[in-house]
Amino acid sequence: MAGFTGGTLPGLLAGLAVAGAGALLASRRRQRMLQELAGWIDNAAEGERTLRPEDLEDGLDQHVAAPVLRLLRRLRREERRNAAARRFLESLIDAFPDPVLLADGGREVMRCNAAAREELAITTLPTPLDAVIRDPGLMAALDAAIARGRHTLVDFTPPADPRRRFSARVAPVEMAEAGRGAVLVLREVSEQVMIERMRSDFIANASHEIRTPLTALVGIIETLRGPARDDPKAREEFLELMADEAARMQRLVDDLLSLSRIELAANAPPEQPLQLAPIVRAVVARLAPQAETSGLQVEIEIAEPLPEVMADADQMHQLITNLLDNAIKYGAGGGHVGVTLDHLDEAPVEAGPVAGRAALRLCVQDHGPGIAPEHLPRLTERFYRVDKARSRAIGGTGLGLAIVKHILRRHQGHLSIDSRLGEGSRFCAWLPLPDRSPSA
Ligand SMILES: Nc1ncnc2c1ncn2[C@@H]1O[C@H](COP(=O)(O)OP(=O)(O)OP(=O)(O)O)[C@@H](O)[C@H]1O
Ligand SMILES: [Mg+2]
Repeated sequence: MAGFTGGTLPGLLAGLAVAGAGALLASRRRQRMLQELAGWIDNAAEGERTLRPEDLEDGLDQHVAAPVLRLLRRLRREERRNAAARRFLESLIDAFPDPVLLADGGREVMRCNAAAREELAITTLPTPLDAVIRDPGLMAALDAAIARGRHTLVDFTPPADPRRRFSARVAPVEMAEAGRGAVLVLREVSEQVMIERMRSDFIANASHEIRTPLTALVGIIETLRGPARDDPKAREEFLELMADEAARMQRLVDDLLSLSRIELAANAPPEQPLQLAPIVRAVVARLAPQAETSGLQVEIEIAEPLPEVMADADQMHQLITNLLDNAIKYGAGGGHVGVTLDHLDEAPVEAGPVAGRAALRLCVQDHGPGIAPEHLPRLTERFYRVDKARSRAIGGTGLGLAIVKHILRRHQGHLSIDSRLGEGSRFCAWLPLPDRSPSA
């Protein structure tokens, strides 16, 4: 009975009872802990993160706590990494200059970038796409992306601003539980559309201008071959007309070529210093006979000495010729035409982009019928003429002022036009002078 030497039986039983009660308590505690742990894992699975690692450490056995804590820390690390990746993606999409929108299968915009918020005035998300851009073509592209996984490029005009035009690339995206949605990347193409329209207008206008003398020539040739064949007087007259029409076509082609040459050099500003006064005098001398024929006297006023200007001599010739030619052609009856050239330390606001800078001012003033205000903004457009028939009759192609504008643009200058009906017109070319370096 060596087993009983340490104590009495009741003592042993009492000891066992205490130990049993202790084990029971410990097992209950552990059960509670395990229930808590199970609850936490459930919450974690539902996306709740209210339990902190230190809450778990209390009372849990190390061999249970350690792996759970490792799991918890790993989850937190992943969560941080995911949040950082989300922020990175969002800032990347926000930095995108074009509007980007993500719509779900129910046509609701779920996300969008800063450009989309600004361009489409989106203030809250989610928002129905058709409340932001109401365009049937775009909606059809969206449905095709969601229902059939189609990629589409569609152009639309926002109803709020019919002058603008956008191109939208619509592509399907898989949005996990939300099913298939679509991403829309918009790009404004208003400028391209305008350039395209200008180009086709230009081609239409140029063809029309060339066709007019060509039709006249064909008509004259027919007449010369037919009824006027044996009439020497009529033949002389028709040959004269043919020469006029051919010269007109030549002028037109020369003007078009010169316009395209000026445009080609638009980004290469002239680098040669030039005295403008001799060029002004030369042009006036050349056009004086033409002015006299129209009963006009050209008066020059040059405020010499004048500083040199960075300018292309040939283009300056062309510019002055065009302005003076107009004054002579359209200013008839005004008695005289004034040509002035001077220098200003600070150009006034009418000098447009040259305002505030030292500049040369070359003005051609006539006292003809003047131009109505509604025509003024359009005068420098190619082929624009106030009175088409009259301009054409006196040989105008409608390209002179467009050439002047492009020459001045290349010289970083500006053309200002001041005209009143019944009082005449004043066209001034402003040429900026090189900035003087500050004196030491
Ligand atoms: N001094 C002016 N007085 C009145 N109208 C003018 C004057 N200068 C230009 N215009 C108007 O502006 C239009 C455009 O002038 P622009 O010089 O571009 O063309 P154009 O004189 O008709 O042809 P081009 O100069 O090519 O021979 C003219 O057709 C004319 O109607
Ligand atoms: Mg002209």
